[in-house]
Amino acid sequence: MTVHFIGAGPGAADLITVRGRDLIARSPVCLYAGSLVPAELLTYCPPGARTVDTARLTLDEIVAEMVAAHAAGLDVARLHSGDPSVFSAMAEQMRRLDAAGVPYAVTPGVPAFAAAAATLSRELTVPTVGQTVILTRISGGATPMPPGEDLATLAASRSTVVLHLAVQRIDDVVRELLPHYGADCPVAVVAYASRPDEVILRGTLADIAGKVHEAGLVRTAVIVVGKVLSAESFPDSHLYSPKRTR
Ligand SMILES: C[S@@+](CC[C@H](N)C(=O)[O-])C[C@H]1O[C@@H](n2cnc3c(N)ncnc32)[C@H](O)[C@@H]1O
Repeated sequence: MTVHFIGAGPGAADLITVRGRDLIARSPVCLYAGSLVPAELLTYCPPGARTVDTARLTLDEIVAEMVAAHAAGLDVARLHSGDPSVFSAMAEQMRRLDAAGVPYAVTPGVPAFAAAAATLSRELTVPTVGQTVILTRISGGATPMPPGEDLATLAASRSTVVLHLAVQRIDDVVRELLPHYGADCPVAVVAYASRPDEVILRGTLADIAGKVHEAGLVRTAVIVVGKVLSAESFPDSHLYSPKRTR
């Protein structure tokens, strides 16, 4: 018996891995975060599977489902949106499973930031323009940011930043980033990436907040900030250079 933490992708049901889909089809229990995981994925569950939306459950209640499945010898497909390695609360579930002696494994998925970059048709690492991507959020939510990870400190590197769980705080994001990136720095906000109701806003640090307010975006969006969004005159990478020994 294994609890399979599975990245369910950013929203489009066909953006799950083949392995993830097959694990759903083999697991008699499916726990899914119904707020973001597409309901279509439940059609892969085997007939008679127990399916539980964990959006309204506490951590204790979720772990109790896993422990009960373990006692019954039933595999669990535990679906998290995007990829479970970022902002998924997988770590605290694993800690409980370790304590309870329940085995688990992880299957990766397509994260929201990658789906947003695809929507924008942009590479987030461009030679000489930006080679670092910071995946972060902004302080002020229920979980405080660790010391040294406040947005102003991260912004000092002027790396490409992808902010999660932050669109409702767009004014604060702009205020923190402006001194480091400048008003003309390109910004894109992608909401519901890969879903039929996807929204794309493009602008700069000077005008993006107004566009977000006008569109009424308050959730399920990533904010991408950095010069890579508009880079055009950059050198070719070494990867396919004729000078490189193959
Ligand atoms: C709890 S986190 C989950 C992140 C997820 N583990 C991932 O790999 O993308 C939820 C946040 O991810 C972002 N997000 C999730 N799905 C998204 C989507 N389809 N489009 C844009 N942002 C999304 C939003 O910032 C949202 O507030």
